[in-house]
This record gives sequence, C-alpha cells and structure tokens, in this order.
Amino acid sequence: MSRPIQAHIDLSALAHNLRVARRATTARVLAVIKANAYGHGLLQAAEALREADGYALLDVRDAVRLREAGFRQPILLLEGFFSRDELPLVAEYELSCVIHSARQLDWLDAYPRPHGLSVWLKLNSGMNRLGFSPAEYPAVLEKLKAHRAVREVTLMTHFAQADEAAGIAQQQALFEQLAAPYRLPRSLANSAALLRHPQAHGDWVRPGIMLYGSSPFADTSAQQLGLRPVMTLSSEIISIQNLKAGATVGYGAIFRAAHPMRVGTVACGYADGYPRHAPTGTPILVDGQRTRTLGRVSMDMLAADLSELPNVQIGSRVVLWGEGMPVDDVARAAGTISYELLCALAPRVPVSS
Ligand SMILES: Cc1ncc(COP(=O)(O)O)c(C=O)c1O
Repeated sequence: MSRPIQAHIDLSALAHNLRVARRATTARVLAVIKANAYGHGLLQAAEALREADGYALLDVRDAVRLREAGFRQPILLLEGFFSRDELPLVAEYELSCVIHSARQLDWLDAYPRPHGLSVWLKLNSGMNRLGFSPAEYPAVLEKLKAHRAVREVTLMTHFAQADEAAGIAQQQALFEQLAAPYRLPRSLANSAALLRHPQAHGDWVRPGIMLYGSSPFADTSAQQLGLRPVMTLSSEIISIQNLKAGATVGYGAIFRAAHPMRVGTVACGYADGYPRHAPTGTPILVDGQRTRTLGRVSMDMLAADLSELPNVQIGSRVVLWGEGMPVDDVARAAGTISYELLCALAPRVPVSS
C-alpha cells in the first residue's frame, strides 16, 4: 500500500463549467489554462475544454505542447514573448501574443520574419501590472496596425476588482474611450467580469478559476453559480490519538485540548500542497462529515478533530478539498484564495482522472 493521498480530476466537471461560462455570454471563450491549468494538468484540461474557442497560457513551450497534441484553436500567450528567441516558435506554431511593453515592440521590429502575427495589445487601465499607459496606447496601436509582421490586433485590458463591490466602471470607461475609434476585437473579462459584468464581455472572455469549479466571489459560492468542483484532494486517517484534557497536538503545541478529545492524523501535509498557514478550525471532511483541523500542519501530516465522529477509524476517507468540501471554504479559513491552493498541488501527489 502506498501513501493514501491522491488528487482526482473530474474532467466532466471541467466541461460542465465551460458550459456554464458559455451560457453566460455570447462572446468567444478563451479558456485560461496557465500554471498547468491551475494545477489540473495542462493537456488533460485542454482536452476536457476542447469546446473552448481558444486557450490562454504563459509559457511558449506549453503552447507548443498543445499544438503538437493537435489543438488548432487560437492560443494566446498572456504575457507575450519573454525574449526575441521565442519569436521563431511564436511564428512557427501560430501563437497569438499579448504585447505589453516597448521591449517587445523592439524585438518585433528587429525580427525579420513573423508575418501574420495575431497580437493582443494590452492597456494598463488601472491594474498597474502590465500594459501600455493610456497616453502611449493610441500610438502603439497605430504602429501595430501598420506593422509588417502583424495580421490582426485585439484590444485588451485586465480588471483589478471585477470580483469586488468597487467593480470595473473606471477601468472599463478608460478602455472604451481608447478603443472607441477602432472596429477591432476586444477582450476584458476574467471569470468575475464574465459572471457579473455582461457589459464588459467584448468579443473574447478569459475565464480561468470558474472553469475549475471555484467561485471568484467572496459572497457567492461555486454551487450557487452552478459550478462543479474539478479537483478533489483526498487521503485517509492513518492514526488516531486519544487526548487527555491539557494535552497538545503537533509542532509548537499550539493547540491544547480543553477536555478529552479524539484526534485523527491525516496523511497530508504542506509538502503535498496543503497550506501550512491553515489554522486550527480549517474545515475538513472525514468520512463524509465536516469537522476541523487542529494545530499546525506538518510536512506530511495534519490533525483532524474526531471528537464528534465516533465511527471514524484508521483508513477512513478524508477530503481536504473538492467534492463535498469546497476549496473556497478551505482557502477562506487559511487566509488565501482557491487559486493558490489548486496551483500548489505538489508533484508528489498522484493524480487520477
Ligand atoms: C490576463 C488574465 N486574464 C484572465 C485571467 C483569468 O482570471 P480568473 O482565473 O480570475 O478567471 C487571468 C488570471 O489571472 C489573467 O491574468
């Protein structure tokens, strides 16, 4: 018997969540599969999402893997090329590229060949991470429209607060103002904007997190949005300890039992991708029942409170997140977001689908 931890990827849930995205928009859907498809496995996720109109990711080598696996849809490099050396691959594999910096423009000018390039010109409308400023944007756009290497230009920006009450109004207004003179395709919306801001769908939406069955919003659950969990991280109880009042659990002895308790040791720790900073009280499902973690998460193990679960035994199934235990609930308790938990699944965890 090997260590009982595993991650299961429900590919039918991925396809389902894509249909939820589709129903919410008439725009074309670019499925965001960066970071190994948010930890779900690049190629299998792309295959499950094959009804998408295109894909978006970061690494040119991942884009090449998709092309070589036979995917013919547009593939957008979300940060474009990172050096001039990547341009031959971009051209050969017909990849679309975000252009966000003057440096990339210089590389494009200097590169003799790639004709027919599809570029997505990024406006910094307030996120202040990537993109040309509103003052620079029109001149760069004119330049790219006339560029010998460029076949088509899509106008793009990214929202900082589409998931929050502050919303997108300012950023969208700035974008619309600069885009207004041009009849060019537009792309603005991540999952949150796709679900909450239909006026900002443009021609291409770019959902990521919702495809993986997690809610982009703090006030609405994935289930309320009709999304199904895709990754289920599960393991087993490998030891049970009976504590006397006053006994402590784990490193640092930071949890102390106020009364006699039954505690289960779960074969899952931070070296599997479970967040070490998840505090006592983080929800966890044991034998189908919701309970809480206790004390510090160790490298390979964590503790679950079994005091109210007398039927749980060694070998009982534990769900860390996924089916029956929303990853959003775990993330909230641990002071992070589902994105970080999903992306951080460790390579040592066996994955099935
Ligand atoms: C430019 C861009 N578009 C779309 C997305 C997808 O966002 P989400 O996963 O919130 O839907 C991301 C993710 O960070 C992104 O960086």
